[in-house]
Amino acid sequence: MDRPLYLIGFMGAGKSTVGRILSRLLDRPFCDLDKEIEITDGRGIDEIFETMGEDRFRDLEYAALDRVCGHPDAIVACGGGIVTNERSVDVLSTTGDVVYLSVTADEALGRIAGELHGRPLLSGPDPAGAVQLLGLRERLYERVADFTVDTVGKSADTVAERIIEWLEIGR
Ligand code: S3P
Repeated sequence: MDRPLYLIGFMGAGKSTVGRILSRLLDRPFCDLDKEIEITDGRGIDEIFETMGEDRFRDLEYAALDRVCGHPDAIVACGGGIVTNERSVDVLSTTGDVVYLSVTADEALGRIAGELHGRPLLSGPDPAGAVQLLGLRERLYERVADFTVDTVGKSADTVAERIIEWLEIGR
């Protein structure tokens, strides 16, 4: 375990939940990149999007990733859009193991209904927009992933177990 483990995937894929379980089971520190951005910037994700726009948020996200990538044993839950920034993709693929938690838009929306705070890209009235966004991002997730777990119909514990198996024997 000499490199960070990055969890990527769409909003609602379970990155933070699975990351916390992995952190406990593997006794490795957990970092939620959105929280890291909020703590450093002093504002919430919604406010950053609203006042500075998505491009500037992606810069802050890159800077946060650049800070945590030096922690060799960290488990890092990344925001769902991190793969849209080439500089961040470079850091992910060159510094750690990248696990993609895949999910369908329906399942993702069901999981995060009522938890749209901090997810400005989903807080619009149009759920079809989420389906479209996921469609645009799928190949970006696949491109950078070293390992993919289909999370549909699986508990977070089961997803974490699959990742541990991969770390231990499949990697
Ligand atoms: C985003 C996902 C969010 C957060 C921000 C943008 C995205 O993180 O980084 O709202 O573009 O998909 P989660 O994937 O943890 O919800």
